Order: sequence, then C-alpha cells, then structure tokens
Amino acid sequence: MDAEAIGRRFTGKAGILTGAASGIGRAAALRLTAEGARLLLVDRDEEGLKETVRLVGEQGGRAGGAASAYAADIADEDAVRGAVAAAKDRYGAVGLLVNVAGFHKVVPLEEVTLDYWNRQFAVNTAGTMLFCREALPHLAEGGGVIVNTASTSATHAHPYMTAYAASKGAVLAFTQSLAAEVWGRGVRVLAVSPGGVATPLTEAVSFPEGTDGAYYARITPPAGMGRPEEIAAAIAFAASEDGAYVRGVELRVDGGSHA
Ligand SMILES: NC(=O)c1ccc[n+]([C@@H]2O[C@H](COP(=O)([O-])OP(=O)(O)OC[C@H]3O[C@@H](n4cnc5c(N)ncnc54)[C@H](O)[C@@H]3O)[C@@H](O)[C@H]2O)c1
Repeated sequence: MDAEAIGRRFTGKAGILTGAASGIGRAAALRLTAEGARLLLVDRDEEGLKETVRLVGEQGGRAGGAASAYAADIADEDAVRGAVAAAKDRYGAVGLLVNVAGFHKVVPLEEVTLDYWNRQFAVNTAGTMLFCREALPHLAEGGGVIVNTASTSATHAHPYMTAYAASKGAVLAFTQSLAAEVWGRGVRVLAVSPGGVATPLTEAVSFPEGTDGAYYARITPPAGMGRPEEIAAAIAFAASEDGAYVRGVELRVDGGSHA
C-alpha cells in the first residue's frame, strides 16, 4: 500500500454496515468512515443509528467518509432488498458489506423454545445470508469485500448459549463456503470472530443459578474484556486492501481467551 493511502484505506469505497446503532457496529462505523468509507448504516434501532450518524459527523470527513441511516430488521427480506437498493442509489456502488448486527441470549436448553431458536437463526444467520445474497451482484462489479461477524462460540463451547452458538457456527460455515463460491467473481469473503467484548450485548448477560463458573473462568481473556474499537480495528483490516490475501477464514480477535 502506498504511503498516501495509509489511514485512508476506504477513501473512494462505499457500502453497507449492519448493527451500527451500538457496540461493535458503531465502533466499526466510526473506524471505517474515519478512513474514508461512505456507508449506509443499517439497524433496527433508529435512535441508536441517529446517534452513530451524529458521531460520524462530529468526527469529520477528513478522508472523505460519510454515513447515512437506514432503519430495518435484517431478518426481513424486503427490508434487506430495500437497504441494498438504497446504498446503491445513495453512493453509486456497494463495494463493502460488513455484517455485524446480531443478538444473543443466555438460555438453558430446556428453556430454548422453537420460536427463540428460529428468531436467533433468522437474525444472526439468515440476516447475514440475505445481505450477502442481495449485495453480491453489486460487490462483484468491482472487487468487493464481505466481512461477517461470527463469534468464538462458533468454534468453542459456550454453555447456556446453544442457540446463539449454533447460529454463529452457521455464520462461519456459510462464510467459508461463500468465500470459495464467489472467489472467481473477485469478491473476498471472511469472518471476524470476537471473544468477550464490553458492549450492551454482554452487559445484559447473567447466568442461571448454579452455573459452573469454572468454564467461564478458563475463557476469561488475560487482558480483560475487549473494547469495541479493538474489534473495529480488525474489521477495518479485514475489509481493507491490507487484508487482500486473507480469504475464507475466521479472524479470531479474543484477547487470547480461547487460545
Ligand atoms: N460483544 C461480544 O462479546 C460479542 C462476542 C462475539 C460476537 N459478537 C457479535 O458481534 C455483533 C455485535 O454485537 P455487540 O456486542 O456490538 O452487540 P450490541 O447489542 O451492542 O449491538 C448489536 C446491534 O445489532 C442490532 N440488531 C440486533 N438485531 C437486529 C435486527 N434483527 N435487525 C437489525 N439490527 C439488529 C441491535 O439493534 C444493535 O444495534 C453481534 O453479531 C454479536 O453476536 C459480540
């Protein structure tokens, strides 16, 4: 990468980032726009989205970055089509797709209802798939990149999170296979798997009475919980030309918790 481009890795690039109203998605929106990306920010939380857009504005568009909000439920197929069309209309291209939106609950298996299981998959897995499918023709026009968000629970035991872990395992399997499917069309696909990161998602976690804490003690990161900005930095690497040789893999960013 030539020296001029350092810190401006997304200047001239446009795309979509989901989950941008909070936590890791908001941090990624700030990081990518700081480096020049023009992004349609998607989330179902309208107020949170407005705040992210305000923060992007406050940061300034030094490298040409900008953001606009699109409120939508990522599990709604029509809404996803609408978001992709809006990004193309607004920015003329969709060269980046960063899927961060997702939710999580701690639920012992006996309490996992079919409705909850289906909703976990509809949002975390199908929502990711829908954005990839709908954005693919645009991404293939100009050497695009997809970064999906899995989790350490995709590959490691996380008790009381069976539905969530299964939905993220599916995101990872989907990502790997998609990477090989679209490689020849010039689209690079990979996943970032965060470990424990301090966001509203993890602040809401409480374990059932009698939970064996020994497992969680073993996977507590030596350096403490991660910060959303640390995951955003990895997403920025993954989505940028710096990550051009990284394809079809899971980039685990977990502070060593699952080493
Ligand atoms: N925080 C962690 O420790 C951690 C670890 C591993 C993976 N992750 C994953 O990272 C991603 C971001 O998590 P976070 O910690 O920033 O959580 P967060 O709750 O702070 O942010 C998640 C965002 O996704 C949005 N969202 C949820 N369901 C949606 C839907 N149906 N449609 C549109 N938007 C929706 C929420 O409104 C929210 O703004 C999630 O996919 C999560 O599973 C988080």
